[in-house]
Amino acid sequence: MKITVVGTGYVGLVTAACLADFGNQVIGIDIDKEKIKRLKKGEIPIYEPGLEKIVKRNLDENRISFDTKLAPAVKKSEIIFIAVGTPPKKDGQADLIYIETAAQQIAEVINGYKIIVNKSTVPVGTGDMVTNIIKKYYKGKFDVVSNPEFLKEGTAVDDFSKPDRIVIGNASKKAKNMMEKLYKPLGAPILFTDIKTAEMIKYASNSLLATEISFINSIANICERVEADVEKVAEGMKLDKRIGKHAFLGTGAGYGGSCFPKDVKALIQIARRHDYRFSILEKVEEVNKNQRQLIVDKTLRLLGKPKGKTVAVWGLAFKPNTDDMREAPSIDIICSLQKLGAKINAFDTVAENQAKKILKNINYFKTSFEAAKNADILLIITEWNEFKQIDKKKLKKIMRSPKIIDARNIYDPDEMKKLGFEYVSIGR
Ligand SMILES: NC(=O)c1ccc[n+]([C@@H]2O[C@H](COP(=O)([O-])OP(=O)(O)OC[C@H]3O[C@@H](n4cnc5c(N)ncnc54)[C@H](O)[C@@H]3O)[C@@H](O)[C@H]2O)c1
Repeated sequence: MKITVVGTGYVGLVTAACLADFGNQVIGIDIDKEKIKRLKKGEIPIYEPGLEKIVKRNLDENRISFDTKLAPAVKKSEIIFIAVGTPPKKDGQADLIYIETAAQQIAEVINGYKIIVNKSTVPVGTGDMVTNIIKKYYKGKFDVVSNPEFLKEGTAVDDFSKPDRIVIGNASKKAKNMMEKLYKPLGAPILFTDIKTAEMIKYASNSLLATEISFINSIANICERVEADVEKVAEGMKLDKRIGKHAFLGTGAGYGGSCFPKDVKALIQIARRHDYRFSILEKVEEVNKNQRQLIVDKTLRLLGKPKGKTVAVWGLAFKPNTDDMREAPSIDIICSLQKLGAKINAFDTVAENQAKKILKNINYFKTSFEAAKNADILLIITEWNEFKQIDKKKLKKIMRSPKIIDARNIYDPDEMKKLGFEYVSIGR
């Protein structure tokens, strides 16, 4: 099939690359000229394991191409995906300006029946908005379909290729057949719904996952008070089939990234606009915010006055295997400690370049040990694999003071105590 993907960010690029890999002819479009220049050379502007190989393979096979010009791509394509950003506005509502612009650009050049597929996460009603924009310019037949994406950064290629489910909203018979054909190679169950239901499924799913994180963080805070172990509590909970082994019950510094924070905020706003107060989600946000402060408080308790002291930070990205720094807990934690006078030595080779755009006055190091050398305390904020089996005896020797705040519970408290660390984790 001939496909255009508008927006070549985390979602758009993975969509374009994976669909090309199934043998489709795909054009990735972006307004970011630098991004397109790099993609044409097979360079991936983001860090996403496995993606570069797929893009290069499909460039070599001439199944994928990249451009800044939308018109020729739309004219050639049967299906046009919109995968542009929907960042939060100040009040938490999703900003639809990129969707509106993309829809208008498509509308101006559409020249026959096409399916316009909305892959971005958008408030209920956006599908109708896109339809109306296109109708203003084009009198022929077309379909607008909602097809929210559920991939996770860090495992995006795998998630896209082996999804738990595919949701398709508002498919006419023709669009339904084409979308079914497009996704057939994935062999995943397809749920057909109306467009608003499809849009809601995405927000409801992300909001429930965020709720699970705030829930387990609250349980962790009680565990600390009653001397229970939250890791074992989560393990015990997941053995219940109704909760499930994949439940999002990882305790730590709270959720971050480009999706959960903005999607929770957006759903609170959608509810408010329809005269409903989504009080559970308001609390989910509050707990998440407090969890970041909790890491700062734990640091201060162990470190004492931070002025003039060196705080080493391992991991800056909002989670491992990504360079995405959007809404990363590390930002709030580091900024709070800097305000109190701490000097920050950081290590995250993958996210360093993105972090530099946001965090200022930080010393970045090329290895975890260099960052920890002579530190008064070490904070583990992102659980990159390389920290898990680190030589702890060496770590103890090089630190000025062997104090660790482990915000991701990657070490065994008993072992750390035996080794002579002052070690504080979450909920244990
Ligand atoms: N990142 C994720 O893990 C994830 C997962 C599922 C869903 N989503 C949703 O997918 C959408 C995209 O997210 P993302 O993380 O890929 O965003 P992103 O910011 O990484 O990428 C968006 C891209 O769209 C481009 N763009 C904006 N306007 C354009 C236009 N008119 N024409 C062409 N290109 C344009 C931007 O330059 C950018 O490269 C969001 O709605 C997000 O909520 C994201």
